[in-house]
Amino acid sequence: MSETIFLGVAWPYANGPIHVGQLAGCYLPADIFARFHRLKGNQVLMVSGSDQHGTPITVKAETEGVSPAEVVARYHALFLETWQKIGISFDLFTTTGTENHREVVHRIFRKLLDQGDLYLRTENGIYDPIARRFLPDRYVEGTCPYCHYPRARGDQCENCGRQLEPTQLIEMRSVLSKGTPEIRPTEHFFFRLSKYNAPLLEWVRQQEHWRPNVRNFTLRYLEEGLIDRAITRDIEWGVPVPVPGFEQKRIYVWFEAVIGYLSASVEWAARQGDPERWRQWWSEGAKSYYFIGKDNIPFHTMIWPAMLMAYGGLVLPYDVPANEFMNLERRKISTSQNWAVWVLDVLERYDPDQLRYYVASVLPETTDSDFSWYDFWRRNNDELVATYGNLVHRVLTFTVRHWSGAVPEPGPLTTADEALFRRVEEAFAAVDAAITAVRLRDGLREAMALAQEVNRYLDEQAPWTTVRDDRVAAGRALFVALQAINALKVLLAPYLPFSSARLHRMLGFTAPFEAEGFRPARVPAGQLLGEPVPLFRKLDEAIVAAEQARLGAAHAG
Ligand code: MF3
Ligand code: ZN
Repeated sequence: MSETIFLGVAWPYANGPIHVGQLAGCYLPADIFARFHRLKGNQVLMVSGSDQHGTPITVKAETEGVSPAEVVARYHALFLETWQKIGISFDLFTTTGTENHREVVHRIFRKLLDQGDLYLRTENGIYDPIARRFLPDRYVEGTCPYCHYPRARGDQCENCGRQLEPTQLIEMRSVLSKGTPEIRPTEHFFFRLSKYNAPLLEWVRQQEHWRPNVRNFTLRYLEEGLIDRAITRDIEWGVPVPVPGFEQKRIYVWFEAVIGYLSASVEWAARQGDPERWRQWWSEGAKSYYFIGKDNIPFHTMIWPAMLMAYGGLVLPYDVPANEFMNLERRKISTSQNWAVWVLDVLERYDPDQLRYYVASVLPETTDSDFSWYDFWRRNNDELVATYGNLVHRVLTFTVRHWSGAVPEPGPLTTADEALFRRVEEAFAAVDAAITAVRLRDGLREAMALAQEVNRYLDEQAPWTTVRDDRVAAGRALFVALQAINALKVLLAPYLPFSSARLHRMLGFTAPFEAEGFRPARVPAGQLLGEPVPLFRKLDEAIVAAEQARLGAAHAG
């Protein structure tokens, strides 16, 4: 029976290009998962978009002396190009700047307000009398009350990682004027999160399939107790507050950005010409997965679910398989220091599947992981090329040379052949189980283990030798190897979609690849193969030093 699978993928701030840390954090995992479910014939909707509000955008715009809209337009275009080139197959990648998004946010805001889940409270705002404006939390600096780090920001301490309120800082300073800000009363809407603490706790306790780190982190938070949070701000850039008298204020970026999952679904349906169709992914029975990095966990396991509970009638997350961080050459990725590998830049020198393979094999699923160029080079040559690419190439070229490119007739199979077919079936079961449980590294490992077994089978059967005196045996082994390669094409398609599509054509298929489903289809005897071209390029070891030398260097990003 076909399943309905929703994938919400973290909305990147449109203030810089995508780097491999983000790719590993959520975009590649989501894409692998989506492609797998589409192949299985499930109903998949995968959405995200540019997060165009918030201080990350306005800070960038101020630094450059351009409007926030200009910054957003530039990076949104780059995001779209990135997804297309690395093959992240969103059904819709929109922005939080659309009219549709504003409408959906307002609909939720009003309902929550009407039923008393939002309420007004006067709080102390941080006002900079020199700049003559209220300051967003991260425009305030001071000493962290927990670890006494002297340059903690008003929203978070970079040193101990705690979330902060600016008034908790010892000796506040304005980032804008460097002066001492004043406390001034200001009215804001608060979300009654405290009311949802108990329901959330009960719900999260039942989510035993969640990754332990995600679940335990969330439980710890909830056991401490959530407090109501202000969801409006004294700023100009953001979604307006749909209440008269609040024209000078905006909705807090996190409150509206998470609503993007819903508004993007609505926009997708409208674009399909079927405006109610989004409901399928938001109704009972749909499974929704949120692919995010660990820094976004609270918003996806507590705030957004609380908003959904409050609004009612929409499904809660089924899973939030948050990833840990990926370091780069054993150092934390830092975009400001250009200690980063930018996806579009890498794709000028390598094929998308080369990057996808490496990143998929080091996804930070259970612990922080490390991107290293040496490891990239080694895995490309020793695994992708040696285990998979060469296997495909030798079988295809041999078939072309000795059977004029037509898949040989197998005749009766031997026990070794039957054993390999069984291994193929087992590999499908193992990869299926791994991807279903969002253990994507394991899934890739299982698929590559099959490739190794096919190599072993071929070494034993040695059709290159038997072809001289036992053409029947050689043809049979080739037939079996071609079936196994065809299976690898399917197993690896979620990970390596570009090469699987090429291999599909080289195997002589013309019908679309997706039609085959996630199962070991047959390449019929007699089918004419296409022209074999190596699937992957071997890389020279010199790339390791060359790529390392680029790190940390100035760039025009
Ligand atoms: N823009 C945020 C970030 O990069 C992520 C937002 S995810 C969302 O950390 F769901 F809230 F949109
Ligand atoms: Zn601190």
